[in-house]
Amino acid sequence: MLHVLEHPLITHKLAIMRSKDTSTKDFRQNLDEIAGLMAYEITRDVPTRDVVVETPMGDCHTKTLATDIVLVPILRAGLGMVNGICDLVPTVKVAHIGLYRDEETLEPHEYFAKYPKCMDDAVVMIVDPMLATGGSANAAITMVKRQGAKNIRLVCLVGAPEGVKAVEAQHPDVDIYLAALDDKLNEKGYIVPGLGDAGDRIFGTK
Ligand code: URA
Repeated sequence: MLHVLEHPLITHKLAIMRSKDTSTKDFRQNLDEIAGLMAYEITRDVPTRDVVVETPMGDCHTKTLATDIVLVPILRAGLGMVNGICDLVPTVKVAHIGLYRDEETLEPHEYFAKYPKCMDDAVVMIVDPMLATGGSANAAITMVKRQGAKNIRLVCLVGAPEGVKAVEAQHPDVDIYLAALDDKLNEKGYIVPGLGDAGDRIFGTK
């Protein structure tokens, strides 16, 4: 199911990121901040357990998180969303998935994967700023499912309708979260209007 997290703060920060005149530093900072804001919404339903905490004034019956949260950035652009979420969820564990695209078949292939032990029971958030064709997202979802993950959320900043459709077709059990659903892909597979190459803009490469 697709969720577009429309919020004035998210839209404002995304507008800054979209501008071709925004510096690498500001691009990175706004991406981290949006990732944190999105994570706040996306984790609204995670299970909690009852605990008793002793405050300076006595016992407080309250709740703490009862499940692991695993963040899975797709290398390399997904790394740009990690710090903002780690700042918000200090107990989060961070897996990594590296994919490259075969030049001939254009299919994504795995070159790196590292996971924590707790994938089966965790809330797993796969992060990648751009959901373009959906090829990498679908491959990453298949990989975390092979690790036993069942509660999977795909978190991207900007999505194209083509990518959303591809993920919904292959993994209808996965919730997709976007900050914006854009118009289309161009002939080179870039999202329009989008924000350009997210990896290059995060890392200052070309
Ligand atoms: N990846 C990007 O970084 N940007 C796009 O527009 C599409 C894929």
